Amino acid sequence: MTAKIFLKLIAAVFCVLIISLVAVDFMASKIAESSYVDTLSRELIGKCRILSLADLTPAKFKAFAQAAGGRLTVISADGRVTADSDNAAERMENHRSRPEVVAAMQGKVGLSRRPSPTMAGTQFLYIAVPFESGALRLAVPLRSVDAQVNAVRFQMLGATTLAFLPAILISAFFARYFSARLGSIIEFAHQLAQGNFSARLARFGSSNSDEFAVLSARLNDTGEKLQEMFEQLQKEHVELERLERIRKDFVINVSHELRTPLASIQGYSETLLDGALEDPQHNTRFVQIIRQNAERLTRLTADLLTLSRVELKSQRFNFASYYVNGLLDNARDSMKPMADKQSIELVMSYADGTEEVFCDSEAMHQILTNLIDNALKYTAAGGTITIGAKALTGGEHEVVEVWVADTGVGIPAEDLPRLFERFYRVDKARSRELGGTGLGLAIVKHLTRAMGGDVRVESTLEKGSTFYFTVPVHDLGLSPDEAIQPQLTAS
Ligand SMILES: Nc1ncnc2c1ncn2[C@@H]1O[C@H](COP(=O)(O)OP(=O)(O)O)[C@@H](O)[C@H]1O
Ligand SMILES: [Mg+2]
Repeated sequence: MTAKIFLKLIAAVFCVLIISLVAVDFMASKIAESSYVDTLSRELIGKCRILSLADLTPAKFKAFAQAAGGRLTVISADGRVTADSDNAAERMENHRSRPEVVAAMQGKVGLSRRPSPTMAGTQFLYIAVPFESGALRLAVPLRSVDAQVNAVRFQMLGATTLAFLPAILISAFFARYFSARLGSIIEFAHQLAQGNFSARLARFGSSNSDEFAVLSARLNDTGEKLQEMFEQLQKEHVELERLERIRKDFVINVSHELRTPLASIQGYSETLLDGALEDPQHNTRFVQIIRQNAERLTRLTADLLTLSRVELKSQRFNFASYYVNGLLDNARDSMKPMADKQSIELVMSYADGTEEVFCDSEAMHQILTNLIDNALKYTAAGGTITIGAKALTGGEHEVVEVWVADTGVGIPAEDLPRLFERFYRVDKARSRELGGTGLGLAIVKHLTRAMGGDVRVESTLEKGSTFYFTVPVHDLGLSPDEAIQPQLTAS
């Protein structure tokens, strides 16, 4: 393709050169011929004038004609030929109407150029001057003009061809240069078409030095944009795949979590109906199991509802400013009976008494009770749970950090990154045994983020865990829609 352009450019240059050669040749022959005829005419007029003064006796007539290099004719006032160096005068027709003779008769120098009537095809130059009462005419064949003009033409053509040689070399160089550049642009387009968006064109000079430089800069920009878009699409694709995997896992988890208590309820109620109802040894225990599973289903559906409300942004928050210590006290009061039952001490680590948080008090209560409930589940009797808060400075905006620390079993480091995912549990069996749904921490994460805060955990095995979350001090103007980032709905 580029070779074709190279050939086309060269062919175009050749055409231009040949057209100029033809034009030069045409002009040169015209100019050479007219200049030659001019010179010859002047020379012959001079000769004619001299001859008109000479003594043109018939004896010397031929010799004079020879010396003048042409045919000499004398014409009388009535147009008759009285003497001619080449022909018999008496046989020649009347010359009165010949243009050069007409001029000479009027006392001027007559000049005419035409083919000879006797020698067909040969051009003659006729010069006539007044002579006695008539005219003296000298006729010279213009045969040598062609040879002279051709010699000039050949010289001109030779010189022009020599001058065109560097022009051809220069145009070949440029044609090669352009076709090489076009070749790299074609290769670049090919790379893009193959999906290689990281391909780049070599820079041709500074970005605005010529059209090729501008074109290569623009094409490189296009390549960069395509690469960015492609990478973005790839990222989005990976993210969509991840979300889809999470959605499928969630559906599988929910069905599994629902099936276990339902199967248990169905199994025990069938056993009761099959006769165990009359068996006083088992019937109460079976009904208790059925009740436990029904409670489990209630907790599960309640947690799922809370989670989906926050995720679907249909949860209505009543934001207001609250003293953070008051919110801690509320949670402590709710959980104290359970803590007492398990002989676990609840310790308060209050913030400055004037410290306020801007939040929904119900959501705050749910977060705190979920965390304290977990701490109670995973801390042995005699342990301590600390509920604390303090203002954090230096962040993007003012926040209060709240924490729930326990002296329980702790969480293995490898489980920490996934702890806030739905249904993620370190020990599934133990969580179920303790009445957990595996959704508590997911709810905590979504509620904190919906209120403009965040959550994190620190834990050491056998020593205990601390869950931290932040709450903004001032109204951030967040609607729940803005507060929940799309990726947060994934887990
Ligand atoms: N304070 C804690 N100490 C040890 N492990 C904890 C603590 N809190 C949560 N976990 C672990 O995190 C898992 C998820 O907690 P959560 O989402 O509240 O579910 P659930 O309490 O229903 O099991 C729990 O199953 C448990 O393995
Ligand atoms: Mg829990």
